[in-house]
Amino acid sequence: MYKLFFNLVFKRLDPEKAHHLAFFWIRLASSIPGLRSLMAAALAPRDPKLRTNALGLDLPGPFGLAAGFDKNAVGIDGLTMLGFDYVEIGTVTAQAQPGNPTPRLFRLIEDRALINRMGFNNEGSAAVAARLAARPKSSKAVVGVNIGKTKVVPEAEAVGDYVTSTERLARHADYFVVNVSSPNTPGLRNLQAVDQLRPLLSAVRQTLDAQTLDATGHVPLLVKIAPDLADADIDAVADLALELRLDGIIATNTTIGRAGLRTDAAKVEAIGAGGLSGAPLKARADEVLERLYARTEGRITLVAVGGIETAEDAWRRILAGASLVQGYSAFIYEGPFWCRRIHKGLSALLAASPYATLGDAVGAAARR
Ligand SMILES: Cc1cc2nc3c(=O)[nH]c(=O)nc-3n(C[C@H](O)[C@H](O)[C@H](O)COP(=O)(O)O)c2cc1C
Repeated sequence: MYKLFFNLVFKRLDPEKAHHLAFFWIRLASSIPGLRSLMAAALAPRDPKLRTNALGLDLPGPFGLAAGFDKNAVGIDGLTMLGFDYVEIGTVTAQAQPGNPTPRLFRLIEDRALINRMGFNNEGSAAVAARLAARPKSSKAVVGVNIGKTKVVPEAEAVGDYVTSTERLARHADYFVVNVSSPNTPGLRNLQAVDQLRPLLSAVRQTLDAQTLDATGHVPLLVKIAPDLADADIDAVADLALELRLDGIIATNTTIGRAGLRTDAAKVEAIGAGGLSGAPLKARADEVLERLYARTEGRITLVAVGGIETAEDAWRRILAGASLVQGYSAFIYEGPFWCRRIHKGLSALLAASPYATLGDAVGAAARR
């Protein structure tokens, strides 16, 4: 049904316009209380066995929406209604910014992939913090807040920029993510180098604590890394995360690679720069996760993202060491029943496995 709709409607629309239209419908549906409960009942029933405790958070399941879909935190309840177990908003930057010129989002339908060079278009951390502060206290949605560097701020002043966003957003986050891995902000990925990353993560951790320890308590801090890091750099980030007692690592962001695509090479070339996501990212995201788990041996929470399309994909990442999983690109291709399918599939896979809970399954394949 959704596939037909996708082919008849969305495929003919500019991808960014289709995103805004779909997101508008999601928000509209969730703003009508009766409809919201009906849709949540149809789309988000979960096996209680999928309940997950990770990062000190009690979640209805392990499957979240990755950063970039709801950059300004405008649709958290609608996305939760569709069945996401948590929603990572952002990337948010200290200053509001328009992002790159359009077109900046492209579909590679044959590859079930996307290329984007959005460039952190967002309303800025002050506006997003105000929106999060105004959320009804009754909302049970679990919200991750993902922050990045404002484009016009020089790399040398990046720490201050991240700290400003942290000060504003800390009290509104169930967990916090330092994004140093998007390919669309010049120089951002240089911050993954350990000598740059150490002062950045330390400053964000200190700021989080100063803002929250007396109020909401410890806010988990994670770093999100690129799939394009060399193996030695992945190990270095893992070691640093352990050294700084970070709560977790999210792997991975989009890739600048274009290997193994089915889409016509000339078409890919014409799209130009940007991060590739979706199915072609699956193998590399798997590898990065396996490497991180081997290096950290379960001492830090790993969040897997990149090319997750099916329950089998999510289950494989859990067995490889991920406590939580996320997705974005497949949502575009799979539509509103995606979370339901993932949950049903995970529930069946768990039932057929030797593990009583998802937590027991985390890292089981890696330890074998
Ligand atoms: C259009 C688009 C925008 C994105 N924006 C962000 C972002 O602002 N911050 C971020 O950390 N990741 C962003 N991502 C990356 C996703 O969060 C995710 O890491 C990546 O797409 C791989 O997952 P997937 O294969 O399930 O899409 C974006 C991805 C897409 C497709």
